[in-house]
Amino acid sequence: MNLLIHNIGLLATPLGRAARGGAAQGDILTMEGAYVLIRDGRIAAVEQGMPADHDGDSLDAGGRLCTPGLVDAHTHLVFGGWREHELALKLQGVPYLDILARGGGILSTVRATRAAGEDELADKALRQLQHMLALGVTTCECKSGYGLDTENELKQLRVTRTLQTRQPITLVSTFMGAHALPEEYKGDREGYIDLLIREMLPQVAAEGLADYCDVFCEQGVFSAEESRRILTAAQALGMGAKVHADEVEAIGGSRVAGEIGAISAEHLIAADDAGIAALKAGGVIACLLPATSLYLGKPYARARDMIAAGVPVCAATDFNPGSCPGGNMQLVMNLACWQYRLLPREVLTAVTLNAAAASGQAKETGTLEKGKRADVLLWDSDNLDYIFYRFGQNLVHTVIKDGNIVVKQ
Ligand code: NIG
Ligand code: FE
Repeated sequence: MNLLIHNIGLLATPLGRAARGGAAQGDILTMEGAYVLIRDGRIAAVEQGMPADHDGDSLDAGGRLCTPGLVDAHTHLVFGGWREHELALKLQGVPYLDILARGGGILSTVRATRAAGEDELADKALRQLQHMLALGVTTCECKSGYGLDTENELKQLRVTRTLQTRQPITLVSTFMGAHALPEEYKGDREGYIDLLIREMLPQVAAEGLADYCDVFCEQGVFSAEESRRILTAAQALGMGAKVHADEVEAIGGSRVAGEIGAISAEHLIAADDAGIAALKAGGVIACLLPATSLYLGKPYARARDMIAAGVPVCAATDFNPGSCPGGNMQLVMNLACWQYRLLPREVLTAVTLNAAAASGQAKETGTLEKGKRADVLLWDSDNLDYIFYRFGQNLVHTVIKDGNIVVKQ
């Protein structure tokens, strides 16, 4: 199947097959009057004007802006129930970690997820993926972490695997059994860490259910040294490491991420100078989640300082039922401009190439370049600034995934 997208008003894309940090984060290619030629789901050419010959379908972009598909590099996609009952508590000032310490928060979603069957979880997550696709997401990382026992963690990961066969977004699976200490292990931290390392991780690896392992390294959840033990065990089984680091308090998560060579450290709201230096030293991508800062009423991560330090920055939703019950990458793009003070071209890299790199997909997607998957967006805009300036409504016009037109507004 061939497809020619022609009459593109402005094509804007980062370039390359690895994350870009520092000044290079803002280096993007812009091209007026471009076309994108797609063969067998892959980009065959990106040029100005019109190709000499073409056999296959044509799509007139109508002068619109064309970018790579968005990559949501951090979601907790599969879970049972919601947590609207926590809204009043939060409004009355009860902190996020206090709700968790009282057996609510993540642990309440664990109860709902354990009670749900695979089909129910899959149907619910599928609905969410459909919304995300319409908003321009073509690749999505999905973490487990609401099972917290072997059976239910594997159940969540299998749901993610099933979802790959039911919809077009490319899914990247992350095992996050170390998301909280389950209620039945209260007072027995070692017992749960032992279960994670001796039973869960080997089974996840044996079934090939996850590419990455993530740990919630946070005060009252898992310490820096516990996180290191769990993540190095995962690395020994061939998984990449990710860390929920410095979300509420800086207890050493970014240091561990740097020391073990994690692919990404995520959240980083409370990261200090030493944490930023550790990310740089370890070649770690900073995965920032501004919609979570918005929802929890927390400060925004120091994105400008990270870019100044040469750390590649990506931005994602953190879609989950507690700290970010919304999965809108376009809102993330707005917030990255307004709150992080990143320029539109820096944010474009953050939500495409750098997000693809944080998901291990930079060789395959994240830019509009020959050989990559044809994950392409047309926007209701003829320039780049406009899509960061407007907000609150879907500005994506057409979504092309693996060369197929999957959404047309
Ligand atoms: O990234 N921080 C840990 N995990 C999620 C929240 C999960 C939840 O509250 O259910 C996060 O914010
Ligand atoms: Fe998260």
